[in-house]
Amino acid sequence: MSSYIIRGGNRLAGEVSVSGSKNAALGIISAAMLLDGPCKIENIPDIADLNVMVEICKALGAQVKRDPDGALTLDPSTITSWEATHDKVRHIRGSYYLLGALLGRFSKASIYMPGGCNFGARPIDQHMKGFEALGATVTIEYGKINVEAQHLHGEHIFLDVVSVGATINIMIAAAKAEGTTVIENAAREPHIVDVANFLNTMGANIRGAGTDVIRITGVQQLPAGATYSIIPDQIEAGTYMLAAALTRGDVTVRNVIPRHMEPLTAKMEEMNISVDTGDDWIRVWMEPERELLAANFKTMPYPGFPTDLQPQTTVLLTTAKGSSKMLENVWENRFQYVDDLKTMGADVMIAGHVAIIAGGSALTGTKVTARDLRAGAAMVLAGLAADGETEVTDINKIERGYENFIKKMRHLGADITRMDS
Ligand code: EPU
Repeated sequence: MSSYIIRGGNRLAGEVSVSGSKNAALGIISAAMLLDGPCKIENIPDIADLNVMVEICKALGAQVKRDPDGALTLDPSTITSWEATHDKVRHIRGSYYLLGALLGRFSKASIYMPGGCNFGARPIDQHMKGFEALGATVTIEYGKINVEAQHLHGEHIFLDVVSVGATINIMIAAAKAEGTTVIENAAREPHIVDVANFLNTMGANIRGAGTDVIRITGVQQLPAGATYSIIPDQIEAGTYMLAAALTRGDVTVRNVIPRHMEPLTAKMEEMNISVDTGDDWIRVWMEPERELLAANFKTMPYPGFPTDLQPQTTVLLTTAKGSSKMLENVWENRFQYVDDLKTMGADVMIAGHVAIIAGGSALTGTKVTARDLRAGAAMVLAGLAADGETEVTDINKIERGYENFIKKMRHLGADITRMDS
């Protein structure tokens, strides 16, 4: 098992460039399976989850080629199978977008239950509700989800919970359905807008993405033939911004969309962290005379504070002056990493969905585990702030979602090495 060894205490400084959004890319590669011709997708990060996604698409019969500049050329016109039963489907969460894509293409689809990070129940009832509304029947048998429609047609769908995955999946399935689909109570995350923009560039007619009402007017053909560039990763950017504040450093994060980062920058300013913003960059630094202040957080769907920055932010709060609260509203069990943080000396109490963090503890290095992707990133951040040496094991979970993590961290001055056993 590979691990990272971090010797804490270095102040991060300099510039780091953010890669393309993992979660947008997962939706966009899946949506591309719906197209009638080839397309090119730029700014796809070279990370494990997306490489798995590419393998699954190839197994379906799509032609996929990675250019030297990292862009993917994708031709789905050779797909013959509506069954995504490659074993790797079970390894990632985003594989469930193939249900929407294959349903839209063949009026039927069958995939293994998707995998992904484990932080409690991850139901997909809202995806199913949407497919059923479009005219499909849904069955779950032998670990596979099967959807099939005689005739896929537009419908008015009101989501019971704000779900990123269900919004994207229904949007993809409806892109070629007959008539107009309206998704109400839709999620508004930047990557939903990105998937809609991608499909529109390829010939779809989707309006309202980024608001809570999305209208999809089905088209018969998606001629494709265009190039599309994926948005920067909001969570990767946030992770480096938090690392800068945590090490009392001075980091400029480049290739970001500052508007997407406002849920974080607003809270950073509240905590006494200095933030400056340009067209596509954000500088984060701590004035030496300023003290990091405690703050209370609630994770929420966008534009609320993102759950995917919750663990990294909790680490930062352990170094603030005073007591903070972190309320996790999205996932039922996303505080598993707190036990590891406590072994590093943090004073955190969990009460249901709230973590109460007593700031000012001195963190010390020890051996901890990456429980999931973001929890793993949080452990690395804790290691940067800790005295002595921290070993983070199970780092494959971190490398599922952060491109060139070690290289970027080292470039900023972190003392971090990868150990392969
Ligand atoms: N939910 C339902 N029913 C559904 C779908 C969701 O009850 O049918 C509930 C979930 O249990 C959860 C809430 O709705 O409480 C939100 O879930 P959502 O569907 O929005 O999450 P997701 O699409 O499965 C994506 C990201 C996650 C990120 C969440 C929330 C991908 C592949 N994953 O998951 O990203 O935490 O949105 O923003 O896009 C990560 O990148 O580390 C990650 C976990």
